[in-house]
Amino acid sequence: MKLYNETLRHEKELVPTDDGSVTLYSKEFNESYHSPKDGALNESLQKHVLPAFDLHQDKSHLTILDICYGLGYNTLATLYHVKKKRLPVRVHIISPEFDEALVRSLKGFDYPSEFEAFKPIIHAISENFYYEDEQFKIEVLIGDARKTIPSLNAGRLTLNANDVKFDIVYQDAFSPKVNPLLWTKEWFADIKALCSDDAVLTTYSTAVATRMGLYENGFVLHAFDAPNTRRSLIASPRKIESLEWIDMELKKQRNPEGKSLRDKDLQ
Ligand SMILES: C[S@@+](CC[C@H](N)C(=O)[O-])C[C@H]1O[C@@H](n2cnc3c(N)ncnc32)[C@H](O)[C@@H]1O
Repeated sequence: MKLYNETLRHEKELVPTDDGSVTLYSKEFNESYHSPKDGALNESLQKHVLPAFDLHQDKSHLTILDICYGLGYNTLATLYHVKKKRLPVRVHIISPEFDEALVRSLKGFDYPSEFEAFKPIIHAISENFYYEDEQFKIEVLIGDARKTIPSLNAGRLTLNANDVKFDIVYQDAFSPKVNPLLWTKEWFADIKALCSDDAVLTTYSTAVATRMGLYENGFVLHAFDAPNTRRSLIASPRKIESLEWIDMELKKQRNPEGKSLRDKDLQ
């Protein structure tokens, strides 16, 4: 099975979304980068950044895995939130992305006014895939996430071995239907190995395969309802009492056919 179509990778169309921010439609994946209904900025903030930061209020350092960089909304919405709330936290974001031309083009992208102050950062990432100041460090790892992310574990990339623990994971790939390699049991195993004990993984996908892949790797699952978006999922190695726990054993009894995606079925 051919899983990626590099000849279509550069073919994209601008799509306005309901909160006024702009996203793209990918012809390679036949999907838009954000839900036009939820809104690109709104989705980033409500489904990913706000719940993740709410659950980590006591931390002075946060290490974040942003899967994948795409238009950078999740990374930039993180900066926006930290700056707006004047949070005294140091943030290190690592984000895989195999569409180098897209990242290079982002210095000209029509971002919402909320990101205006980050123009120099957007420019630096576009040119160098890297940005650092006293509060933020952002690294975009150009290449296939299935290769670059497991390599972090061995300390072979920019992190050193004892630094590789993520507090937050934004699992925001294209959907499991069109980008299955970033939703398999094996992929979630690689992620889990890089998570701290109280890590928070946010994702818009509530598909059975997503839930099973996370659960089979020891993640505890919670349903999450953010304002003006569809129901999403928060996973963590530990149960989060403030959230609505999902009883996966009961779900399995009710749907014994429900399965995780496996790498071997996608080759
Ligand atoms: C839904 S978009 C991400 C949107 C992004 N979070 C944002 O806020 O703009 C998915 C991204 O994953 C990238 N991608 C898909 N498969 C990948 C892989 N195996 N390795 C690296 N990047 C991948 C695509 O090129 C695309 O940019």
